[in-house]
Amino acid sequence: MKARQRKIRIFDTTLRDGEQSPGASLNIAEKLEIARALEAMGVDIIEAGFPFTSPGDFDAVAGVAKAVKKSYVAGLARCVEKDIEAAARAVEDAAKPYIHVFLATSAVHRKHKLRKAKSEIVRLAVEGVSFARRFCDEVEFSPEDASRTEPDFLCEVVEAVIDAGATAVNIPDTVGYALPEQFGGLIRHLREEVSNVDQAVISVHCHNDLGLATANSLAAVANGAGQVECTVNGIGERAGNAALEEIVMSIATRRDFFDCTTGINTRMLYPNSRLVSGLTGLAVQRNKAIVGENAFAHEAGIHQDGILKERTTYEIMRPEDVGVPESRLVLGKHSGRHALKDRVSALGYRLSPRKLDQVYERFKALADKKKEIFDADLLSLVEQQMSEAPALFKMKSFHVSSGDTTIPTATVVLETAETVRQDAACGDGPVDAVYKTIDRITGISGKLVDYNIRAVTSGKDAMGEVILSADFNGRRYSGRASSTDIIQASAEAYLNAVNRAAAEQTAAGGQGGKSSKKSARRAKSRAKEQP
Ligand code: KIV
Ligand code: ZN
Repeated sequence: MKARQRKIRIFDTTLRDGEQSPGASLNIAEKLEIARALEAMGVDIIEAGFPFTSPGDFDAVAGVAKAVKKSYVAGLARCVEKDIEAAARAVEDAAKPYIHVFLATSAVHRKHKLRKAKSEIVRLAVEGVSFARRFCDEVEFSPEDASRTEPDFLCEVVEAVIDAGATAVNIPDTVGYALPEQFGGLIRHLREEVSNVDQAVISVHCHNDLGLATANSLAAVANGAGQVECTVNGIGERAGNAALEEIVMSIATRRDFFDCTTGINTRMLYPNSRLVSGLTGLAVQRNKAIVGENAFAHEAGIHQDGILKERTTYEIMRPEDVGVPESRLVLGKHSGRHALKDRVSALGYRLSPRKLDQVYERFKALADKKKEIFDADLLSLVEQQMSEAPALFKMKSFHVSSGDTTIPTATVVLETAETVRQDAACGDGPVDAVYKTIDRITGISGKLVDYNIRAVTSGKDAMGEVILSADFNGRRYSGRASSTDIIQASAEAYLNAVNRAAAEQTAAGGQGGKSSKKSARRAKSRAKEQP
């Protein structure tokens, strides 16, 4: 009889390291939405944030801890008592609490950042782990910059923290410096040299500075690592972290090689990738493995011919296995609310009757403009509906005039619960003119940081989907919208970001007031604290 396959734990850090991506910023409601999606997908551990760094991070971790039941919920902490206490308090209501402590161990960090000798590092690491164990049964220790740490010293630290009660030891390639063979060798070395290694799970956490995060993580798995830390779409500090979808699909597709499994429902990879990109405002590159637009597109005639004769000639995974919707005509102008509901649930979404009504309204408006409605169109409408912030300002109408011989000008009419406001402005182009007008009406001025537009399906009548992020008073907010009119999609996406900013700033006491200055300060101090 064949032995049971080793299960690799998936530790998702989208909400912590992922949120450290330049350009990403999530509010608590958005973090909760992502956490629930990660739990439903089967993630073993969700790292929800770094509670000590700001009250916002603390509340987000605490909120996720209360909401999530099946996955462990982790809070990050330095090896410092006040950090660990904050992490412990943040996860105390979790069904499965988890504390993750870290301390740098490499020579360069010891000398320049920490100014501490090896013996002091070992002492602090052990004290940090023992202190965390007072609050929580599951404690992970990360020797930051492990891949550049002297291997023998790394073994000494790992052995000491396991003795102190660490239940997992994570080996980070913090600066993305490792190479697969070498990193795999390091994991093998730890497994061979650390006497108590079997008493803890060996985890890995790889950054993508050389584009090797997935390869390094997989080399570690092949050499005995039992846990991989990763993020949806590979977002994260600098070039990002290992991408969850790449790790999971590599292990699933090459089961013959790894002889391992994960507990991830792979059909949720694509919807969750879209959810994260929509809420963070970080678009997924077209040729991104597994979840990119082109990941299953066969362009060359020879390939198309092969696929038609036998799919496996050129396809190692089926799009449906990762939840990519089929690109077929699904609904038309005469399809009713029932047909829409059926198709939306077949795509894996459960909408409340109110949300379904709103999607149906948008669907009918789209069907008037576009004869054929595909799954990808529907997905875009549903996701826009789901990621929409409570709308303080609603678009009533807009008009733009533009051309190569006129000054682009926009007129916009917005409505709030109490009033209808309109204004006009000129800009460098039609989108700029609309954004300037929205700024004038709302009194909230944003600086566009990132703007991406893509066609949701092929064809000249395709919807354009805009994903953007904008800076309001030092805080980033994302926005997303789709329409067959790309100026409208651009306007609605920006308004979506404005509404997020307005909602947060209203809750905190008004734009330009203390709170927004505080949030800018917090953002700054957070930047200093992040590993
Ligand atoms: O990259 C890193 O070293 C980290 C640690 C906190 C695990 O993010
Ligand atoms: Zn990291």
